[in-house]
Amino acid sequence: MKILDGRKVSNQIKEEIAIEVDQMKERGEKVPHLAAVLVGNDGASLTYVGSKVRSCKKIGFESTLIHLPEDTSEETLLQQVANLNANDDIDGYIVQLPLPKHIDEQKVLMAVHPDKDVDGFHPTNFGKMALDMESFIPATPFGIMELLRRYEVDTEGKHTVVIGRSHIVGRPISILMSQKGKAANATVTLTHSRTKDIKSMTLQADIIVSALGVPNFLKADMVKKDVVVIDVGITRVPDETRERGYYITGDVDFEAVKEKASYITPVPGGVGPMTIAMLLKNTLLARERHKQKNA
Ligand code: GUN
Repeated sequence: MKILDGRKVSNQIKEEIAIEVDQMKERGEKVPHLAAVLVGNDGASLTYVGSKVRSCKKIGFESTLIHLPEDTSEETLLQQVANLNANDDIDGYIVQLPLPKHIDEQKVLMAVHPDKDVDGFHPTNFGKMALDMESFIPATPFGIMELLRRYEVDTEGKHTVVIGRSHIVGRPISILMSQKGKAANATVTLTHSRTKDIKSMTLQADIIVSALGVPNFLKADMVKKDVVVIDVGITRVPDETRERGYYITGDVDFEAVKEKASYITPVPGGVGPMTIAMLLKNTLLARERHKQKNA
């Protein structure tokens, strides 16, 4: 069994990006600038956005955090999005999800200019991705693909079972892994809450990507020997004995499943750090494309 060490690989990617940023500075060029919009005070979102902004600082990007109160109106948020679209200093930005219930998430994501949409959530980018065109690939599936590529995991012709059909992970990873290319060319089955007998599917899988958000969902008797397991779940489980009051766990019964797996991602330290690294990679790409557009 080999651990797919997302922390280690994400640090490598960040170092590679930092070298490119240093070269940009030496040439007297503008460095990439990422902005993040956070509405409200959801604990997990605060942690993720904080981590994204800190990573920017570490690798030499400029960053801007726009933190709006929970009761921000949809109109005010759309105005902020319009301002970010118009601000030539910002190369890319994200609107952290989930948004408060009174705001129409789809309307906001549609308002993000596709050229600045480093999350790859706009239909223009999602559509281009699905059609093998140049776009921004959503950071979590992009991170999974990069992890598989860097560990040279053989995916060609392999049966990949994806659990969960979210727009952020399940749907895009099912598209990406079925495409041509490295860490792809797989035969993909997309399973979800209406799938009958998920266990009969996972037992056939060479690769499992679980993006469900249910702790300990994937058990050892649900997988075959030498399976590759990618655990995208990040659930906070309340725990009074911990200083933070919770611990983080994935979808996979890690201790038992790792005994059967050929490769497995830990939680934390697997897919999570890769998501941040690929957001930074997308921001670097946004800067390069922005520069070409202005040239
Ligand atoms: N919420 C959970 N994951 C993500 C992500 O990748 N991007 C944004 N904007 N919000 C999220």
